[in-house]
Amino acid sequence: LKRSTVKELLASQDLDREVLVKGWVRSRRGNKYVQFIIVNDGSTIHTIQAVAAAETFPEETLKDVSNGACVAIRGQLVASQGKGQAVEIQATEITVLGAADAEAYPLQKKATSLEHLREIAHLRPRTNTFGAVLRVRHALAFAIHDYFNRHGFFYVHTPIITGSDAEGAGQMFRVTTLPPEHPPRTADGLVDFSEDFFGKPTNLTVSGQLEGELAAMALGSIYTFGPTFRAENSNTARHLAEFWMIEPEVAFNELEENMDLAEDFLQSLVRYALEHCADDLQFLNDQYDKELLGRLNFVIDNAFQRLTYTEAVEILKSAKQKFEFPVDWGTDLQSEHERYLVEKHFKKPVILTNYPKEIKAFYMKLDDDGRTVRAMDVLFPGIGEIIGGSQREEDYTKLTTRMAEMHVPADELDWYLDTRRFGTAPHAGFGLGFERLVLFVTGMSNIRDVIPFPRYPKNAAF
Ligand code: 4AD
Ligand code: MG
Repeated sequence: LKRSTVKELLASQDLDREVLVKGWVRSRRGNKYVQFIIVNDGSTIHTIQAVAAAETFPEETLKDVSNGACVAIRGQLVASQGKGQAVEIQATEITVLGAADAEAYPLQKKATSLEHLREIAHLRPRTNTFGAVLRVRHALAFAIHDYFNRHGFFYVHTPIITGSDAEGAGQMFRVTTLPPEHPPRTADGLVDFSEDFFGKPTNLTVSGQLEGELAAMALGSIYTFGPTFRAENSNTARHLAEFWMIEPEVAFNELEENMDLAEDFLQSLVRYALEHCADDLQFLNDQYDKELLGRLNFVIDNAFQRLTYTEAVEILKSAKQKFEFPVDWGTDLQSEHERYLVEKHFKKPVILTNYPKEIKAFYMKLDDDGRTVRAMDVLFPGIGEIIGGSQREEDYTKLTTRMAEMHVPADELDWYLDTRRFGTAPHAGFGLGFERLVLFVTGMSNIRDVIPFPRYPKNAAF
């Protein structure tokens, strides 16, 4: 007899047949005549109920069928007499595959706080909440590949260990095999990286963009989707030290087309989740955030508001709201400002463009005014920045001038400059923070709760 998933059984029209299900017990209750065993196997947010009659299963045979145990249940799939479920299993055989000491099992039936679950991150996928989040996370990852595949993009794999700082922001984790206590030193007393594994200092990548640009200048439209690492000491509900980023890069696209791509991409991902994760999203909506489904539908139905940084600063300066950080042209926007624009002023997603060059990365294309660059940030309700991107500076001289002004070492990026030396072309791209997308779609409030094993300052447990 082939195992069926709970999802398959709940959707089955084919009743009064023998079935086999395997999964983890969520609860067992009942009386001396009958016991009800509630099982989930991860295929869906829903559970299936197995009914164990006392004639077949005397009390002592079910003593190990407790919350958290793994069981295999064989029986007849029948229409349920009780309310709350359409079908149930009349059990004929129950095997405990793995018992779980009911006293010691960390996931007790009473609600456990998200903070506590973070401390038992290895077990939290067994909860309804994390089951739902992980299934939505999977669906979004699939939808991303599907979107790009349908639009003629190629998936390229960029390195995780790198010798260069793609963002020029100095937020990298060093990768080394040198002994931390007594690293070899040069005559000047500096650490001698010629003795290191790669013969030079290396780091975990902060972004695959620069390598992605090389690929776009050969394949036309590409994307990366991989882990990225930032050693920024941001202890917030929006930052991780290890997060996944999706970075499309398109030859011949300019800023306008980059914005069109970002908007269409985000809307189709949200639409996919609404269509394919309806049960999980309904659960998350009911459990945590009653406005979740409304917000997701709003995003797919309404065009994003596009405006320049300069226009945004004018709006913020004339806002009645008092900000903790004052705004003036040239300052970077804080999340309070971004959230004001999205949640209070426009009440819809916003794409901000043409930021001052001083607050953006070296590779962004300079505007004709010489003061701003063709940057774009997509800001989402409840999230703030979900996407950061730009049209790239394709002109060799202008790019190397910017690099010199920003103290970006040109010798380390000589390979990158070859794209501008040989057959350069206008191109543009952006980075979508995968966990910020999952955060938005699930309506969870902390980014640490949308990745299985979050990495943040002072936390790398598991
Ligand atoms: O704005 P960022 O730093 O842009 C880049 O890395 C560019 N190379 C992207 C590109 O143009 N190809 O990061 C892009 C996005 C942000 O908008 C945010 O969603 C996410 O990555 N992000 C983070 N997510 C979680 N934790 C962090 N510490 C993040 N830093 C950035
Ligand atoms: Mg950014």
